[in-house]
Amino acid sequence: MESHDVPDREILFDIRADVERLFNRHMDAPRLWYPHEQIPWGEGEDFQTSPWSPDQYVTSEGVRSSIYVNLLTEDNLPYYTTTILGHAPKDHPIREWSYQWTAEENRHAMVMRDWVNISRCIDPVVLEDGRRIQMTSGEYPEPETFSDLISYVAFQERATQIAHRNTASKLPKEDRVGRNVLGLVAGDETKHYMFYRDLVGAALLIDPSTIVQSLERQIERFAMPGTGIPRFTRHAVRIAREGIYGLQQFLEDVVEPMVDSWKISALEGLNGEAEKARERLFASLDTLRASVARAAERAAGVAGAPA
Ligand SMILES: [Fe+2]
Ligand SMILES: [Fe+2]
Repeated sequence: MESHDVPDREILFDIRADVERLFNRHMDAPRLWYPHEQIPWGEGEDFQTSPWSPDQYVTSEGVRSSIYVNLLTEDNLPYYTTTILGHAPKDHPIREWSYQWTAEENRHAMVMRDWVNISRCIDPVVLEDGRRIQMTSGEYPEPETFSDLISYVAFQERATQIAHRNTASKLPKEDRVGRNVLGLVAGDETKHYMFYRDLVGAALLIDPSTIVQSLERQIERFAMPGTGIPRFTRHAVRIAREGIYGLQQFLEDVVEPMVDSWKISALEGLNGEAEKARERLFASLDTLRASVARAAERAAGVAGAPA
């Protein structure tokens, strides 16, 4: 049987020991922190007697958009559990991992909302309206196969880590609580990323042809997990302009280092379809590089244009 004929359930079977190993590694390096301990509750004010207004926390629209989108994304991530469990047989360790992952993602939403409400960095009414709209639309990705699923989540965890880290760096200097909260969340995302990055690495040893095709598909169609958020495009543009997360970060901080770490260019023994997919993957990277370069030239042109 050629490797491209290996059904996904065979990868699931063969990767069992790697899932157990990576899950144990995750659990052996616990990041136990409590959301309630991160928040100086005495600094909070009652929204009934002191309604929200933007001057209570001075920052740019891009930073506000990023906090809003990142928090709603965390709110919504447990929905992804549905997708992941859909690819996980009953007695497979990927299920146990998914339960742990879901609990950690839920903690991110909790602590971020506590910080948002105490710092008043974004409008709590807009935030709750956004959460209700996004969550009632049940937005989540539906990768067709297990290989596509782990490829997608690997990119998504890395992208989320970068988005939180860069948002933290743009918060006002005096917001030490916000920096700490986003730093804790980004630290968890690093561990999620490492789990999926290394799971994809293990899958590449089992069936490189199938995985390369999945990676190519997921790079080609990757979208941040925020597409159900009201006015997502407008927020995404602001977040990119702020230099927090956009095409440039997707290329330089997410895709390029991950493709390098998996040594995709050096993989041997790919079948015909996979060879074509690898060519398309590197062509996509060239297209992305050209788009990022064009955007940088436009931005430089705007900056240098006469007033
Ligand atoms: Fe998260
Ligand atoms: Fe995560």
